[in-house]
Amino acid sequence: MDKIQEALNQAYAGEAKAALRLKVYAQKAEAEGYKQMAKLFRVIAFSEEIHGARALRALKEIKGTEENLAASFESEKQVAEVAYDQFVKMAEAEGNKEAVLHFSQSRDVEETHAKLYKEAMSHYMEERETTYYVCKVCGYVSDGVLPDECPVCGAKAEMFVSFTD
Ligand SMILES: [Fe+2]
Ligand SMILES: [Fe+2]
Repeated sequence: MDKIQEALNQAYAGEAKAALRLKVYAQKAEAEGYKQMAKLFRVIAFSEEIHGARALRALKEIKGTEENLAASFESEKQVAEVAYDQFVKMAEAEGNKEAVLHFSQSRDVEETHAKLYKEAMSHYMEERETTYYVCKVCGYVSDGVLPDECPVCGAKAEMFVSFTD
């Protein structure tokens, strides 16, 4: 990898992390009643996302949607980015129940991502319309049905966010 590619990769990863951190800061500020500070964090997060996306596009690794679906399916199948299985075992060995819960729920949700991609790949030409519901606690994604209770973490229906478009 040449120096520019390396720098772009670093920029992409750094900006993506910063954007997420700032969004969590914004949630915290909101919870503490600092509306303007929350807005500032959200604005800077949005700006960092622009930098990150620009670096990612400059890496010229973004393909068409059919290939992007296939690549996303493959990476979910291998859970390439985060090795939750190992993290669960490590947290169990350490006796850290909170970490076990977090890692195991995340792992269980990751497994369902692959299924969602596979499903989407089979009908991407006709773009079947559906509403997705995402659990705000563990990230579980339900296709078309708002569950009474999250099957992964047990959160109630009101903890789900719907994505209609
Ligand atoms: Fe995933
Ligand atoms: Fe959940």
